[in-house]
Amino acid sequence: MGRLKDLRMYVENELNKMDDPGRRNSALVHLYGVSLAATMIARKRGLDPELASMAAMLHDMNAYKTGSYEDHAHKGADLAREILTGLDLTTEEETDLICSAIYHHDDKLVTDGPMDEVLKDADVIHHCMNDLSKKIKEKEQARFDSLCREFGM
Ligand SMILES: [Fe+2]
Ligand SMILES: [Fe+2]
Repeated sequence: MGRLKDLRMYVENELNKMDDPGRRNSALVHLYGVSLAATMIARKRGLDPELASMAAMLHDMNAYKTGSYEDHAHKGADLAREILTGLDLTTEEETDLICSAIYHHDDKLVTDGPMDEVLKDADVIHHCMNDLSKKIKEKEQARFDSLCREFGM
């Protein structure tokens, strides 16, 4: 079994602990949506799609576990390190790359490292394209426009 599948099994087990079925469902839809977008973006930019997808599967776990988005990116990076260390699926370097992407993922208005940018962009793709009738958030508009140009959409 691949390590992405192992990580997804872990994430699904964790999300199954959420009491509200609606919130649990939204969480799954978002993590899998961002995961697919991250795979595509990483592949297009010549980065590791598997690591991008793994970062995406973990990126909002702190918010889902605690029910709060307060500083969820920074706290989520610590949680991801704990999870990845426990599961022993990644090298130290890979863990650092994933945790950095999660740490920076809420800083949508600044540019960070290439893998950090993949996760931010994948998050924005899911926010903006999961339901095209929803209005795009102001802080995500420029990033979404630039993604549309990059992907010829
Ligand atoms: Fe987030
Ligand atoms: Fe997210």
